[in-house]
Amino acid sequence: MKEIRIAPSILAGDMGNLEKAVEISVEGGADQVHLDVIDGHFAPNITFGPGTVKALRPFTDLKFDTHLMIERPETYVAKFLDAGSDLLTFHAEVLRGSSFDELYRVVKAKGKEVGLAIKPQTQLPKWAEERLDKISTLVVMTVNPGFSGQKMDMSVMPKLRKLSGLVEQRGTGTDVEVDGGVEPENVREVVKRGGNVLVAGAGVYGKKDPVKAISELREMALKLREPS
Ligand code: DX5
Ligand code: ZN
Repeated sequence: MKEIRIAPSILAGDMGNLEKAVEISVEGGADQVHLDVIDGHFAPNITFGPGTVKALRPFTDLKFDTHLMIERPETYVAKFLDAGSDLLTFHAEVLRGSSFDELYRVVKAKGKEVGLAIKPQTQLPKWAEERLDKISTLVVMTVNPGFSGQKMDMSVMPKLRKLSGLVEQRGTGTDVEVDGGVEPENVREVVKRGGNVLVAGAGVYGKKDPVKAISELREMALKLREPS
């Protein structure tokens, strides 16, 4: 069984003090830091770019899980690699098999990981199914891209179960990351359908004690895995 990983999304942190947001992730024992890059075209918001990733890199060795909600990833992939991103997640909606293969080649040449994300309404394209062994992390979005603090779209749950089953069946070891509205109230639904990487923005930085919130999410997820 794949390990449970907690990935706080600093987009929900203090945008005037992202260093603090990263520190909270480290203090809370997070497994990776989720960095939401949005270009104002792929989704209706503009967040941060390679410069911010580079500025935050010295503050931790934690995996930089970089979620690229951008229309032209081929233009920026090298910059994010240089900035210190460890996992570069591209959106299936802006790619075809051939453009994915090109990005994969560039990322693997630097020894980093490739992720693929799909919006709530998007089914996994055939070309992605055929390349599951190349995808280290499959991101199943449970909110529309753009903002933290949205409510989880529970209509995505059947797709989550189906994709976790596909990964299991194929034996690729691909992590299944759930992104959007993850909160203590819905961790059960996500984990029992095979989500093992839990992104949390408001679920961490919106809590009175964000550091504690990280370990509480992990405990809840692990408890669900204990034989009943
Ligand atoms: C939304 C982002 C998410 C978001 C998560 O476009 O991809 O990572 O910041 O934040 P919450 O957990 O608050 O939905
Ligand atoms: Zn994200």
